Amino acid sequence: MNACVLSIQAKPALRLRGSKPVARRARVASVTRAVISDPPPIKSATKFTQDWALQGVPKDDEIAGTFVTHLECSLTGEKYKADELHGLADSGKPLLVRYDFQALKGKLTREILASRPPTLWKWREMLPVRKAEDCVTLGEWMTPIVDAPKLAAEAGLEEGGALLVKDEGRLPTGSFKARGLVMAVSMAKELGVTRMAMPTNGNAGAAMSAYCSRCGIETYIFAPEDTPDTNIREMALQGANVWRVNGYIDDCGKIVGGGKEEMNWFDTSTLKEPYRIEGKKTMGLELVEQFGWDDLPDVIMYPTGGGTGLIGMWKAFGELKELGLIKPETKLPKMVAVQATGCAPMVNAYDAGEEFATRVDNAFTRSAMGIRVPAAVGDFLILRAVRESGGWAVAVTDDAIDEGQTEFAKKEGFLLCPEGAATYAAFKKGLANGKIKKTDRVLLFNCATGLKYPMPPSNNDIDRHQPIDYGVIAKGI
Ligand SMILES: Cc1ncc(COP(=O)(O)O)c(C=O)c1O
Repeated sequence: MNACVLSIQAKPALRLRGSKPVARRARVASVTRAVISDPPPIKSATKFTQDWALQGVPKDDEIAGTFVTHLECSLTGEKYKADELHGLADSGKPLLVRYDFQALKGKLTREILASRPPTLWKWREMLPVRKAEDCVTLGEWMTPIVDAPKLAAEAGLEEGGALLVKDEGRLPTGSFKARGLVMAVSMAKELGVTRMAMPTNGNAGAAMSAYCSRCGIETYIFAPEDTPDTNIREMALQGANVWRVNGYIDDCGKIVGGGKEEMNWFDTSTLKEPYRIEGKKTMGLELVEQFGWDDLPDVIMYPTGGGTGLIGMWKAFGELKELGLIKPETKLPKMVAVQATGCAPMVNAYDAGEEFATRVDNAFTRSAMGIRVPAAVGDFLILRAVRESGGWAVAVTDDAIDEGQTEFAKKEGFLLCPEGAATYAAFKKGLANGKIKKTDRVLLFNCATGLKYPMPPSNNDIDRHQPIDYGVIAKGI
């Protein structure tokens, strides 16, 4: 066993900022950390169990799975202790989790990673959960990258170019929110939280209610009243106390923030707690491995609301470079923040050269609810990642989103969610204005299954008691 030993300090009492202390279990005072350098061969997956997912990954009481060291304010760099429940930093900005990559460097290799089951938990050393028993799981499988050859050809992509989609709709609860929430809920479980609350545009609430019910945490969820009904119903069915609110997601966030004292719940709003971003980071880790480590796509197009995934992926690329898992000279993708014209605070700030974004009043999207976020607490982190990567921010119309969804479904047989369709519309716009080259490999993010959203009706009925008119059927619909 290739062990690197570091002691972890015992934790002081937990306290929710501005609220009563929450219950927590006794924790181990010191642990050692190691990467298993000679993992066992993968057993076949007859059942997706936590045990199966964690094969070859450090997991017992003596060997903690994580190399986490501390948390850091994303604006000021001020340090905060790991293994405590945190909200925002004192500056009011998000906290980022930091790890001891010097200790991990050279130990977590491409070969070791390749030998582990293809789930989010294979990245365990780079994730914050300390104990295997706290990893809540519903089967967070690696999501596929699917190509769109017909649409690529129609768009005139040339040799070397490709149009690809990372399909996050295959995750538990049908969206990439599973990645962020499995981490936030696992950490909450680890830190003894018993009640969680969040504002949501739908998918995040669905994921939180699922993981919380899985491990026995109570949930309170507040969603704008026009959130897709499927989301509201799945949250309720999965055990959440779900409320519709006549306002936007940030209005729902105020209800969560305002209830902290009285309800003694943990505020799990986007980027107001530090661990969702660590889960979303796995999109970046995963795609780097899928692209063979040093041959990354030229452009990543991400439907941006709170921006956790975009920020998380950029963090992932930096961490993999620090670990030497990708070479220093490897070209990183241009990160593109895609929004809808009716709610484009990041695009406005990007165009104006601003570091922070201004809240959008009267925000509107016809169907892409996930990107209807008038103000994002991590605005400067989104803009920083976009600018550092040489990417851009772009808005697309609701009509372009609908057209994109229809085109993808009819020509590629791939039902994108509206937010995913926004990235396709942005791809076409990028090609038209020359920001995307015909030889670029472009990776779109389809963040949820299209099945969770309302679809256009199809009302063609046959009365089987009447003679069937095949002439009519042959004409097609
Ligand atoms: C399907 C979908 N796409 C994109 C987003 C935006 O994600 P983020 O908050 O990471 O910007 C959401 C958020 O709810 C979503 O549900």
